[in-house]
Amino acid sequence: MKALEGVRILDMTHVQSGPTCTQLLAWFGADVIKVERPGVGDATRGQLRDIPDVDSLYFTMLNHNKRSITLNTKSVEGKNIFTRLIEECDVMVENFAPGALDRMGFTWERIQEINPRMIYASVKGFGPGPYEDCKVYENVAQCTGGGASTTGFDGGPPTVTGAQIGDSGTGLHLALGIAAALFQRVTSGRGQRVECAMQDGVLNLCRVKLRDQQRLAHGPLTEYPQYPNGTFGEATPRAGNASGGGQPGWVVRCRGWETDPDAYTYVIAQAAAFEGLARTIGHEDWLDDPEWNTPKGRLSKLEKMFEEIEKWTMTKSKFEVMEILNPLNVPCGPVLSMKELAEEESLRASGTVVEIDHPTRGKYVSVGNPIKLSDSTTAVERSPLLGEHTDQILSEVLGMDNADIEAARSVGAV
Ligand SMILES: CC(C)(COP(=O)(O)OP(=O)(O)OC[C@H]1O[C@@H](n2cnc3c(N)ncnc32)[C@H](O)[C@@H]1OP(=O)(O)O)[C@@H](O)C(=O)NCCC(=O)NCCS
Repeated sequence: MKALEGVRILDMTHVQSGPTCTQLLAWFGADVIKVERPGVGDATRGQLRDIPDVDSLYFTMLNHNKRSITLNTKSVEGKNIFTRLIEECDVMVENFAPGALDRMGFTWERIQEINPRMIYASVKGFGPGPYEDCKVYENVAQCTGGGASTTGFDGGPPTVTGAQIGDSGTGLHLALGIAAALFQRVTSGRGQRVECAMQDGVLNLCRVKLRDQQRLAHGPLTEYPQYPNGTFGEATPRAGNASGGGQPGWVVRCRGWETDPDAYTYVIAQAAAFEGLARTIGHEDWLDDPEWNTPKGRLSKLEKMFEEIEKWTMTKSKFEVMEILNPLNVPCGPVLSMKELAEEESLRASGTVVEIDHPTRGKYVSVGNPIKLSDSTTAVERSPLLGEHTDQILSEVLGMDNADIEAARSVGAV
């Protein structure tokens, strides 16, 4: 039995944020019914296509373990079927532009009338306030949630990250909200609204940067590269590759960096392991030198320290650096490319990287469930074709017979 077995999800999500959430719920065993517009479907089916006329990797990698029904929820018959689906489901998830569901006639009040146990979960770009009606994509959320202003190098422009903290990050937040609401429903007997704004999700992930904003009022941020030679303004600055915690860290070049853009490693020169690090890079002299042998002494010379560390790492591959420094308790990590991650055997063995077979695209690599439950293991299944399960859902979930289904089809509802 799976953790969420018996939970049925009405999945009105599209693009990335909402699908991330419902894919996780499907991996935990929920029956996720993805509702898509007839003939069109989730726009990402056709976006960034690598093979003509085949569902894109964008779609296939975000919609595993779901069933697909096509339904025009703006037509009269489509609304009837949708109402019946609301009756039969536990959770409804959507991430349309603000007001889209209301315009279809399915306000939160109406949904509660149809099914008082329904948990209604939404992702929007912003919460209540001046921007609540705006449409939002990933990088807008990274910029408005504090990610961009705190990412990049001192003096350089605000920068967005490759990690999709706005879309996938908010989807993760929403999934947790839904799980909590399902738990509360056990005792309350009622559903509730679950709302996550992408701006809020990004800000939550940038929590430590708001911490630094307040520390700034009491003096310079000593772990930032701006200290002690640069200047601080009024707001948390961009910290480059500084570690952000109390221990100094930086990205340094490794052997092969001239031709390999990912021949780098992250090294944290934590105080407790400094002796081993200094000896390894050939700087025993630092150990007796009061200018170097205390964290406070080193603080004003971090740039120089990482230059010296780099002279050593440039003589080693990023994996050799890992092998040598880890036994010395020096935290470090190679900068891994997507190619290396896709080929990494341990990630394949743990199911974090999976190979999936798809009827029209063939084999492709995907990221499996990163959350491992000992009593609810995940088997990743391919994403559904558009409307693949329409008849099955109408008959199994709603009890419609062939004549009913044909009637709905003839008026374009499904
Ligand atoms: C992502 C986003 C910018 C995309 O905008 P978009 O492509 O213009 O799509 P919309 O959300 O406006 O929805 C398109 C329309 O399709 C309609 N639609 C969707 N599914 C339908 C169905 N099954 N049957 C009939 N109509 C349907 C919607 O009702 C909406 O119609 P309306 O504009 O008349 O109300 C927008 O949905 C958004 O801001 N979402 C919230 C934030 C978010 O999740 N962003 C990140 C996405 S990864």
